[in-house]
Amino acid sequence: MNASSIQGTNPGMNDAILQVEHLSMKFGGLVAIGDLSFTARRGEITALIGPNGAGKTTVFNCITGFYKPSEGMITLNRNDGSSFLLERLPNHEIPARAKVARTFQNIRLFSGMTLLENLLVAQHNKLMKASGYTILGLFGFSSYRKASAESVELAKHWLEKADLVDRADDPAGDLPYGAQRRLEIARAMCTGPELLCLDEPAAGLNPKESAALNELLIDIKKTSGASILLIEHDMSVVMQISDHVVVLEYGRKISDGSPQSVRTDPRVIAAYLGVDDEEVESVLTEVGDEDVIEQLDTGPDAAHGPGTSSSYLAGPVTDTIGHSEGERVTVSKGASKAAQVDAKAKNAPRKPSERATAKPAAKTPTAKPRGGRK
Ligand SMILES: Nc1ncnc2c1ncn2[C@@H]1O[C@H](COP(=O)(O)OP(=O)(O)OP(=O)(O)O)[C@@H](O)[C@H]1O
Ligand SMILES: [Mg+2]
Repeated sequence: MNASSIQGTNPGMNDAILQVEHLSMKFGGLVAIGDLSFTARRGEITALIGPNGAGKTTVFNCITGFYKPSEGMITLNRNDGSSFLLERLPNHEIPARAKVARTFQNIRLFSGMTLLENLLVAQHNKLMKASGYTILGLFGFSSYRKASAESVELAKHWLEKADLVDRADDPAGDLPYGAQRRLEIARAMCTGPELLCLDEPAAGLNPKESAALNELLIDIKKTSGASILLIEHDMSVVMQISDHVVVLEYGRKISDGSPQSVRTDPRVIAAYLGVDDEEVESVLTEVGDEDVIEQLDTGPDAAHGPGTSSSYLAGPVTDTIGHSEGERVTVSKGASKAAQVDAKAKNAPRKPSERATAKPAAKTPTAKPRGGRK
């Protein structure tokens, strides 16, 4: 046991596979993630969503050791009860010891190698260990022959699950796009992860490929014992397969809950969809959130200066959004739609008679999920 490994006292009792606490990541003056905390539960699919540049990939890069966070703690609780502080673990130990695997926003396969070869390369570490790291071991040790046979079996297993076994001997580069995405996931699964991090696996897929992906992810969740952390812009994927959704905007968490609660959250509707104020209002009407509509009706937003309709790509005038401990990140004026909803809720003047009759925000689940802006 070292500083990066703390033994859990209650093996099997901790239902959080991943705990992100007060995570911040700064690039010079840019706060890409500010004081972010969330939990991914064991056996679930947790989706991380938000507009472009919200900090989703940066969160993955911190979890998987590509970046060392400026602040915060990332705890991975393995199924056997052991725990790891990922921000302290050397990069190469994150897949090997903490059992975290990932795929990338841009496909990274060995395109000249066959599908089977791609899956065997992923198991290289296990095979080298079995060889005793000697040339004699490669040819002589029965442990190596056994590990080698097991690796081929595991590769076959995941090719079947990903519906790719018929193309096992073709170069990976010859596969259609959707099949390459599934191959990447199969490759990650060959490393035996307990947490699988997928960065926009449905990007660029047609509806048929997207349905095949959903099926694969649900199969992984049900049969492999791996939990999934999923970055996704495709709302149909998020709403269909996620158990829990965390929403980021400008590196801050603006919503966290069930897919149903998140999709009716006005802050999410405003921020994630990046729509005009009028459109936010019409979506809120659809959602039936009278309290927030009433607040939006109170006229120009004094807290954000002139003009009520500032888009995500608002002009050069700057504004700031609070992060941890008084730190602020500079963004375009009025860029944070979630902050606008908050400010309007805070500043809305109320007549005493209205206060007496004000109803709590009632949300009816009538809003349809909409696609992202990617
Ligand atoms: N290595 C880096 N150096 C400087 N800035 C960075 C770096 N990586 C990310 N950023 C910045 O951090 C912010 C968050 O980027 P990130 O890629 O995490 O967003 P994202 O939510 O994944 O966006 P998208 O949906 O477009 O993939 C952006 O402003 C980005 O420019
Ligand atoms: Mg990204």
